[in-house]
Amino acid sequence: MQTHRIALIPGDGIGQEVTPAACSILDAVGKRHGYELSYDSFDWSCARFRSEGAMMPANGLDQIRHHDAIFLGAVGDPSVPDHVSLWGLLIPIRRQFQQYVNLRPIRVFDGVPSPVRSATSEVDFVVVRENVEGEYSEIGGRMNRGFPSEMAVQEAVFTRAGVTRIVDYAFTLAQGRGKHVTSATKSNGIVHTMPFWDEVVAERAGTFPDIAWTQEHIDALCAKVVLDPARFDVIVASNLFGDILSDLAAAVAGSIGVAPAANLNPERDFPSMFEPVHGSAPDIAGQGVANPVGAVWTGAMMVRHLGHAEAADEIEQAIASLFATTDLRTRDLGGTATTREFIDALLERLS
Ligand code: NAD
Ligand code: IPM
Ligand code: MN
Repeated sequence: MQTHRIALIPGDGIGQEVTPAACSILDAVGKRHGYELSYDSFDWSCARFRSEGAMMPANGLDQIRHHDAIFLGAVGDPSVPDHVSLWGLLIPIRRQFQQYVNLRPIRVFDGVPSPVRSATSEVDFVVVRENVEGEYSEIGGRMNRGFPSEMAVQEAVFTRAGVTRIVDYAFTLAQGRGKHVTSATKSNGIVHTMPFWDEVVAERAGTFPDIAWTQEHIDALCAKVVLDPARFDVIVASNLFGDILSDLAAAVAGSIGVAPAANLNPERDFPSMFEPVHGSAPDIAGQGVANPVGAVWTGAMMVRHLGHAEAADEIEQAIASLFATTDLRTRDLGGTATTREFIDALLERLS
């Protein structure tokens, strides 16, 4: 039996509900696949912020830097400004652990209602989101608060090293998939960073002659993802564009409640972090009705990262077969199943 040490951060809202649900699936499957997850649980959250004045302890990152992976639910609560909660926990983990790849697969499962008529189970693509630089930066400032001359400036940072490594990741990923990369950009409006991104993509594409690629403006690309989602294979995008695109694409696949994500440090110098695309969903938190699929599929990505591809396949197939052969759906997908009912059915399917 192989044991992996997991830093578990359920966080806020439905993070507290979907994370334990997902762990129960990972544990059950692990018994048959020769692994055990040993969890160290951390209460880092907005609740902690309210009682202790910080989302995590000052040495928080040191406490988790030697774990094999981090499994996180969601962070955010209406009682704490989002930029305080997210920059106090999630974003420092992504940055200091150099998790520069945010991998967000999109699949339309048979039996899952998509708001997009043309979306069939042929839809199977991955958003590769740059995760540590770009539009998310601390550089900038607020001036003249409260006066008519008040202003805010926010810089975007794109480095050659940063763009190159994410683009290379996307092209390499495409080699093992449909051999096509779409680069999401906006060089008609954003005249410094985006043409730079385009140039790096064109240069790197030259070193992957087996991969076809296209460049699309992010606005037009959003329309194409809705109108013809099956045409995409790997979409590479900056931090902000990738963020927006991944929620849009998740909605095309039925709900953001089904979308998984992995924040990867490909060099494995630091642990990678696995967290679903969705947030803490304060509007449904505490009701036991959150869709656990995003978290479970995220868990499958973690188990794959830890070397258990067969276990991950089994979990992903069980999700697909539950959707294809039953009408069990949580509320976001038009059903009435609770989180628990869905997880129980999934456990049964896996046993
Ligand atoms: P959200 O993803 O939390 O919710 C958007 C909508 O989708 C809501 O109506 C919600 O009920 C629904 N939804 C989300 N996940 C669902 C699930 N699993 N099952 C069923 N319905 C689901 O986005 P938001 O409302 O913009 O953000 C809420 C809070 O979460 C904010 O504080 C935000 O900053 C934070 N957030 C955190 C993360 C993260 O920790 N990774 C990601 C996104 C947002
Ligand atoms: C996500 C979230 C975060 C992001 C927020 C909460 C900072 O939307 O993980 O997609 O923008 O990265
Ligand atoms: Mn997001």
